[in-house]
Amino acid sequence: MQTNESAGHDVQLKSMLFVPGDSEKKLAKGQSTAASALILDLEDSVAADRIEVARAMVREYLSARPDRTDQQLWVRINCLDGPLALPDLVGVVAGGPDGIVLPKIESAQQIVLLDHYLTALEAREGARAGSIRIIAVATETPHAMFAAHTYRGASSRLTGLTWGAEDLSAAIGASTNRTENGEYEFTYQLARSICLLAAHSAGVQAIDTLTTDFRDQSRLEREVRASRRAGFSGKIAIHPDQVAVINVGYSPDAEELRHAHAVVDAFAQAGHAGAVQIDGKMLDKPHLVQAQRIIALGRSTPAKRDSF
Ligand code: COA
Ligand code: MG
Repeated sequence: MQTNESAGHDVQLKSMLFVPGDSEKKLAKGQSTAASALILDLEDSVAADRIEVARAMVREYLSARPDRTDQQLWVRINCLDGPLALPDLVGVVAGGPDGIVLPKIESAQQIVLLDHYLTALEAREGARAGSIRIIAVATETPHAMFAAHTYRGASSRLTGLTWGAEDLSAAIGASTNRTENGEYEFTYQLARSICLLAAHSAGVQAIDTLTTDFRDQSRLEREVRASRRAGFSGKIAIHPDQVAVINVGYSPDAEELRHAHAVVDAFAQAGHAGAVQIDGKMLDKPHLVQAQRIIALGRSTPAKRDSF
């Protein structure tokens, strides 16, 4: 089995491209994209009678791509409540996935349970304990919305939280999750904010949900801008055409980086001062934290990905 030393909290997962696990063509295409990570799907995009084929294809694909320097390989398994999740894990862990995306969670207990399963499977494969990471889809069930505070400290494997509107609306019997203007209904805006706050509370990456209309690039650009302003550091993609916009959108531009360095320099020059000024504007601790975060974002992904 391959090890996945590239995985970890410090790799910013800007774009995570879903690839149906049983599509040879899309698996091949995924590799040619600049996505920070592929999510090889065993859940909703795979028909029930294709699951065994998909597990075998995903396992083979993982084994054929041991070098994850430019692109991590994650696997979305089926939910832990059902009969498919354990065979999914047993089927793919030998390929050395960088991480597991866990859908439809109810609470942090399931993150802990997955952590235990992974520990056992890593031991079976001779892999480093704790090397396989976890991203949870944190708002797909009504109960999960009330459990978001429990994700903090659930597992050292937890790398990110993301959210989804489709399964939540199905779970509550809603006929749509959109208003007449095409925006998310309040319940799903709430889900998005809960995911954002829960991720930051847990100290993990906040990864925004997908934009389904993959032909509408200007909508995607708008959504990515708003998402980054709100505090998300990455986004799910479902089509290769979405990757470049997402990578650029979650990277600080030259002006932001220049300003961030100016803020850090101003604090450094002021010694132990709690507040400084640049061009007549007061800056204190939160501004310094924000500037340090932007500089870290600028460092975290090779430039070639952003210009793909
Ligand atoms: N990953 C990798 N390659 C993909 C892709 C994806 N998610 N989506 C499309 N492609 C490939 C297509 O195979 C096609 O390849 P080609 O140029 O070699 O023919 C190319 O990109 C252009 O695709 P296009 O014709 O525009 O779309 P499509 O009709 O083939 O596929 C979807 C449309 C929505 C079915 C497809 O984008 C998809 O499967 N998305 C992911 C679905 C998923 O995983 N859902 C679960 C999470 S919500
Ligand atoms: Mg789903």
